[in-house]
Amino acid sequence: MSERTRDLPRRSCHAVPGSNPRFVEKAQGLEVDMVFLDLEDSVAPKEKEGARPIIADAIKNGDWGDKVVCVRINDWSTKWTVFDIIEIVTKSGERLDEIMLPKVESAAQVVAADMVLRQAEIQAGLPVGHIGIEAQIETARGLINVEEICAASSRLETIIFGPADFAASMEMPVLTGGVQIPEYPGDHFHYVFNKILMAGRANGLQVIDGPFLKVRDQDALRDYCMRARILGFDGKWTLHPDQVPVVNEVFSPTQEQFDHAWKILDAYDQATEGEGKGAVMFGEEMIDEASRKMAVKFVTRGERAGRVRSPKTD
Ligand code: GLV
Ligand code: MG
Repeated sequence: MSERTRDLPRRSCHAVPGSNPRFVEKAQGLEVDMVFLDLEDSVAPKEKEGARPIIADAIKNGDWGDKVVCVRINDWSTKWTVFDIIEIVTKSGERLDEIMLPKVESAAQVVAADMVLRQAEIQAGLPVGHIGIEAQIETARGLINVEEICAASSRLETIIFGPADFAASMEMPVLTGGVQIPEYPGDHFHYVFNKILMAGRANGLQVIDGPFLKVRDQDALRDYCMRARILGFDGKWTLHPDQVPVVNEVFSPTQEQFDHAWKILDAYDQATEGEGKGAVMFGEEMIDEASRKMAVKFVTRGERAGRVRSPKTD
């Protein structure tokens, strides 16, 4: 897979229990930007070691198209982390793009994964640095240290919020993680979203929201995605194929936004290049370099979604 695809905004990031060959096979056909085969919480302790070869074989021999392919390993408090990395990296081949480290609590945990990855890559004959890291923030300690965590390794590609574990870590009186809580006057995760987003953006990472566990409620999912999208998140996990179109849609600009962004770029280009001005009126608004930066983001995301500019009408 080209570096370019890997760097594009990831809207839908699909979770697959790695112990289930049927789900692993099915995930290859989904219209998702990224897929992660799980060795952590969706796999029972007695199934974990048996899931590793299922995952490695599927990565090596499956057809993953241009999806980013990732494996979520077990966290550093378990007995599996190092062995997960070594077996997965040495047996999956070059199609493995990343590992996901759950429940990250310190920069040192990312550095430790980075060092084990380096040896596993050499052992596997892969270029050093081939495998990226995704880090999940899902405990109180992880959130406190998120700024150092996001700066801990050049392998880091994304930072992810894990609402279910986070709710447990904070002892929130909820039984379903990552859904709206109508009794709370506002968004109970607003601070968490912003803190993770800022730490991620300051370090050039993609920022992803975790699972929405009410998998049959598409309207509630759409509403929840919109909150994260408006703050600036790149995408969200999907747990069920029915969640994929909703996530892809919400995290992509509409055709109207895409066309509007192109018009801003054209007007700004004409002002700066043609007329030598830094700021210019665009309809009722003034636009300048900051407007160009915002518009570029819409265009990149629109292109990611396959949008093509509508024929010019004016
Ligand atoms: C995801 O891992 C979560 O805990 O929400
Ligand atoms: Mg979790």
